[in-house]
Amino acid sequence: RSSGVQSRLLHHFYQFLPCSSSSSLPGPPRFFLIENMMELTHDHLPIHLTNLAQRYGNIYRLKCGSTTMVVLNSSEVIREALVKKWSDFAGRPVSYTGDIVSGGGYSISLGDYNEEWRAHRRLVHSALQRCSQKSLHDVIERQALNLRKVLMDYQSSAVDLSEDFTVAASNVITTLAFGKEYNKSSLELQQLHSCLNEIVALWGSSWISALDSFPLLRKLPNPVFSRLLKEVARRDEIIKQHLNNYKSQGKENEDHITGSLLQGLGEQHNTEHGVFLTDSHVHMATVDLLIGGTETTAAWLSWTVAFLLHRPEVQTRVYEELCTVLQGQYPKYSDRHRLPVLCSLINEVLRLRPVAPLAVPHRAIRDSSIAGYFIPKDTVIIPNLFGAHHDPAVWSEPYSFKPERFLEGGGGSTRALMPFGGGARLCLGESVAKMELFLFTGYLLRDFQFIPPESEASLPDLRGVASVVLKIKSYKVIARPRPVSSP
Ligand code: HEM
Repeated sequence: RSSGVQSRLLHHFYQFLPCSSSSSLPGPPRFFLIENMMELTHDHLPIHLTNLAQRYGNIYRLKCGSTTMVVLNSSEVIREALVKKWSDFAGRPVSYTGDIVSGGGYSISLGDYNEEWRAHRRLVHSALQRCSQKSLHDVIERQALNLRKVLMDYQSSAVDLSEDFTVAASNVITTLAFGKEYNKSSLELQQLHSCLNEIVALWGSSWISALDSFPLLRKLPNPVFSRLLKEVARRDEIIKQHLNNYKSQGKENEDHITGSLLQGLGEQHNTEHGVFLTDSHVHMATVDLLIGGTETTAAWLSWTVAFLLHRPEVQTRVYEELCTVLQGQYPKYSDRHRLPVLCSLINEVLRLRPVAPLAVPHRAIRDSSIAGYFIPKDTVIIPNLFGAHHDPAVWSEPYSFKPERFLEGGGGSTRALMPFGGGARLCLGESVAKMELFLFTGYLLRDFQFIPPESEASLPDLRGVASVVLKIKSYKVIARPRPVSSP
C-alpha cells in the first residue's frame, strides 16, 4: 500500500497544472507527468524523482495546483537549503489533516517551525541526550542479546526476521521512554504498532489528502476519514494509558525520557518567549519517538542482511575484522574507529537505501533562494536523499553495493552522505540510530552467518518499496550460529 509522503505527493501530481512562466526553475511539462502517472503509482517514487533529475538537473520544480514543490537531488543543494539556509526552510507544510494526525500541531516531526516548536524540540532533544548518556548503550546491548536468543531459537530454520527487528528497535525506544519492553507476542505491542502503522497508511491515502485540497469535501461522509479519526483516538488512548501508568508508578525521575520530559515541563526555560509546554507535548513527543525510531532502524537491519546475502564475501570480511580486533568480545560503540570494515558496511547500506528516502517535506518560511533560483515563501521542498546518494557526479557506480568505497582510499565521501537530513530538522534520533546500527550489526555478525534458504533463486529482491520508509519486500533467511559464540 503506498502511503504517507508518497501518496501525498502523488495526489499533488494528479492536480498538476502547466508551470507558471514566471518561474525560471526547470521542471517537467504537464504531458510528461501524465505519461508517467502509472509509473508514479508504482513502488518507487524516489527512483522516479531521481530519474527526472537526470533530465532537469539537481533542482527542479513541480507545480501542483496552488502548491509549488521544489525537488532537491544532490547533497550540495540539499545542504544549502537544510543546513546553510536552515532558518528559511525549517517549516513543514501545514494542512487540515496533518493537524489532526499531529494532535493539533503538537508533534515535532509534522509541527511547523515556531517558538513553541523550538522549545518542544529542545526539551525532547535534551531528555533524549540525558537518557542516552545514562543508559542507551546498555539498553541496545540488552536488545541485541534478546535478538541473539530469538535467532538461536530458530535453530537455523528459514525465517522472515523483519518483525524481530521491529520488536528490537521498538524495545529500545519503549525502554528509553518508559522503562518497558515487550516480546513479539505481546498484545499491547501489536496494538500499538498496528495503530501507528494504520495512521501513517490512512493519512497517505488520497481519500484523506483530498480533504486538504478541497475543504467542501469535509462536509461529506468519508469512511476512510472516520477510520483515521478512530485510529488517532485509539493511539491517543494507548499513549495516555502508558503515560498515566508511568506517572502512577511514581517513576518521574530522569532515568526515562518521559520522566525527564515531565520534569522539564515545569522548568523556567520552557516559558521563555511566553511558550508553555504541556502534557500534550509529552504525549506527541512519545508518538514521534515511537514512529521515528521503530520502522526506520528495523528496515535498515533488513536491508543489511539482504545485501549480505547477495555479497557473502562482505559478511566474511566483517566477521574476520570482528574476530581479529575484538578477540571474541562483543563490540562497544567506542570500538567503531577500530572496525572500519563494519562501519563501511553501515555507511554503504545508509547510502544505497536511505530508509527515509524523501526525508519529510519542508516548507519555505520566507522568500529565499537555492542554487541561485528564487524560492518564494510557502514553497514545499522535497529533499530527495535517495537521489543525492545516487548522484553520479559524487559516487562512482552509484547503484552498486560497494562498502569498500568508504574505506581509506576508496573515494567515498561521508560528507555527501545525508541519511538523517540536516539542519534544524536533522533526525532527532540520529545518535540513537547510529549506536543501534553499529551494535545490532556487530552483535549479529559476530554470532551468526546469514545464508539464503536454498538456491540463488531465493535471494531477496533489492528494489524495495518506498513510502515514508523505504522497505525491502519480505524475504526469508537462515541465521546459522557461528562455531564459537557465547554471550
Ligand atoms: C526525522 C532519518 C531513526 C526520530 C528524520 C528525517 C530523516 C530521518 C531523513 C527527516 C529530516 C528532515 O525533515 O529533513 C532516520 C534514519 C533513521 C532514523 C535513516 C535510522 C536508520 C530515528 C530514531 C528516532 C528518530 C531511532 C527516535 C529515537 C525522528 C524524529 C524526526 C525524524 C522525531 C522529526 C524531526 C523534526 O521534524 O524536527 N529521521 N531516522 N529517527 N526522526 Fe529519524
